[in-house]
Amino acid sequence: MLFGEKMNLTDALVLPRTGKVLKNRTVLAAMTNKQSHENGILSEEEKKWLIRRAKGDFGIITTAATNVTENGRGWVGEMGVWGDHQIPELTNLARELKKTGAVSLAQLFHGGMRAPKHINGVQPISASINTEPGMNGVYTRALSHEEIVEMVQSFADAAVRCHKAGFDGVELHGAHSYLICQFLGMVTNRREDDWGGDLEGRSRFLREIITSIREQTSPDFLIVVRISPIIEKLGIYLEDSLQLARMLSELEIDILHISCWNVFQKVDSDLDSRSLTKIFSEVTDNRLPLISTGAVWSAKDAQYVIDEGADLVGVARVGIAYPDWPKYLSDISYSPEKPPFSERHLLEADLSPVFVEYMRAWKGFVIDGK
Ligand SMILES: Cc1cc2nc3c(=O)[nH]c(=O)nc-3n(C[C@H](O)[C@H](O)[C@H](O)COP(=O)(O)O)c2cc1C
Repeated sequence: MLFGEKMNLTDALVLPRTGKVLKNRTVLAAMTNKQSHENGILSEEEKKWLIRRAKGDFGIITTAATNVTENGRGWVGEMGVWGDHQIPELTNLARELKKTGAVSLAQLFHGGMRAPKHINGVQPISASINTEPGMNGVYTRALSHEEIVEMVQSFADAAVRCHKAGFDGVELHGAHSYLICQFLGMVTNRREDDWGGDLEGRSRFLREIITSIREQTSPDFLIVVRISPIIEKLGIYLEDSLQLARMLSELEIDILHISCWNVFQKVDSDLDSRSLTKIFSEVTDNRLPLISTGAVWSAKDAQYVIDEGADLVGVARVGIAYPDWPKYLSDISYSPEKPPFSERHLLEADLSPVFVEYMRAWKGFVIDGK
């Protein structure tokens, strides 16, 4: 099945830039799970949970957000790609994922203003001086021009490590208010130099990362960009995000991933009642494959996303509870039970007790959770 043709969830997809074939339309979206070691090395548990979903037939498997510098961590137990010591376990994971026929992506990120001092031991950094709730009143300092150039290189170095380890590509985490997102937002990026100002300036950090990764990895290495279309608190608005999608479709990237949280929500405006998926697909159509993610549970939900114009459907929570979810999608009536789940159900789905504990903090997911 060629890119741009209308499709079913079980159809393969040929990525237009590289010719790489995805076996179906399903994507396991990035999920932090706190199962990595203190030094950022992948644990057996973290590999196990991802390999289980790859065996469950997901077309793309994305790792948890994984840090490109040691002191940009957002959580304890976060996976890292900041050092060569992390390469051996990354290699083991990539090799096992490849055996299943899944395409593997490592999600590269830096927490920026969401990298707490009590975890990293240093004052957090951002595009400008920022803070947010939960940071105990600690404000970031703005990166200097030289530090931004170094940060771009840290993203490229991390991608090179993933490439060496055998990953098919990386997903740049430009969503959910982390560092790349902080550069994109006009509230969090108030710089007056070349890295701020209009969208061209605010997206320069992301675009330079893309260019550097392209230069330092092979042409077939995939680059996916994940964005949040609207975060008003950061100054990220739909019109800019659509313009960003247009800019990205001119670059050598492979997929745009929009994080919608709820794909069924219509854009709330008198002039426009289309879904985000529809709006973005009209911009990217026939130029850049699109993943859309958020609140998909049943086969019908997933087909809706595809029918709205996405090429691929991303899922997170249903993939936690049902590792074999993609295998059932040929039956459009497939509608698995929704949360809350018992601890036993989740342990049997190859989550470790640490991950189950983390999921207790996600409202309504675990029977005795929040
Ligand atoms: C436990 C958990 C951890 C998550 N961690 C990440 C992450 O590391 N990076 C990211 O981009 N999104 C992360 N997300 C967001 C998901 O990728 C996804 O966008 C969101 O959960 C909505 O999809 P869903 O309704 O299918 O769960 C996380 C979600 C969950 C449930």
